[in-house]
Amino acid sequence: MENKRSEVVGCETTESFNPGLLIEALKDSLFGKHIIFKESIGSTNIFLKRLAQKGAVEGTVVVADEQNAGLGRLGRQWFSKKGENLLFSVLLRPNLPASRVFVLTMIFALAGIDAVQGLSGLNVMIKWPNDIYIGQKKLGGILTEFSVREGDVQYVVLGMGLNVNWNPELGNNLLYDASSIYSETKKRISREMLLCNMLERLEIYYQKADGDMKERDGLFKKWNEKSLVIGRTVAIETGKERVEGEVEGIDRDGALILITAGGQRRKFLCGDVSVKMNFSKQRHL
Ligand code: BTN
Repeated sequence: MENKRSEVVGCETTESFNPGLLIEALKDSLFGKHIIFKESIGSTNIFLKRLAQKGAVEGTVVVADEQNAGLGRLGRQWFSKKGENLLFSVLLRPNLPASRVFVLTMIFALAGIDAVQGLSGLNVMIKWPNDIYIGQKKLGGILTEFSVREGDVQYVVLGMGLNVNWNPELGNNLLYDASSIYSETKKRISREMLLCNMLERLEIYYQKADGDMKERDGLFKKWNEKSLVIGRTVAIETGKERVEGEVEGIDRDGALILITAGGQRRKFLCGDVSVKMNFSKQRHL
């Protein structure tokens, strides 16, 4: 455990998250209406889904310093050291068909990378469908969960885990290469300021996602520009099959379009992607 703090960007960090800073900074915004902070919780997503079912307002945010049953995609777990990273979920009640919920994951990722880039200067990228990467290492992940009734989306919970001040070199037993903002910059970042910037960006993107075609095209273009896999040769593992090919792009439903080695054009809505370096060496990003 490190004792000495290095340079802090933004305001001073404490081991424990200070929700007061967030409440003050966001008081006039969509995500400042109802902010719940928990020192320890099972999962912010599960907690917020329960609140959503009881009628919680759009914009409700749940932040935790620690999760003891954090959820990842595809039924995995999400581990994070107490007091070092960002673990939070936000509630949206969009007027969207279920087929377009992916756009919310997309804007959440964009808000995340804008905030990380703005405070740390790191050039972070999005790895389809919902990971945040720096180089070939995972910095964070998004878990999107939603409820649909008679074809209408009732609510969407967007959850993000982002490695901020954690030092992975001090040991971790993750199965993938992980990094943190601290590990990349050797600077500690105010988690409160990072989250605040992210939620401000998210509100702007959320309005654009509900805007005209030009605004939505702009979002889509930005997301594609920040995509790590477009134009790369990848292997996608869906649980049922493993397919290799070159990524042509991501379509409006968020599906990955792959041109297979045999020249077929195939569409995938979910799966795990690994980028192929060459025939003998492959790296799971
Ligand atoms: C993934 O990469 O598999 C997605 C990870 C998402 C983790 C976050 S942490 C905050 C929120 N609450 C959860 O239980 N999961 C998400």
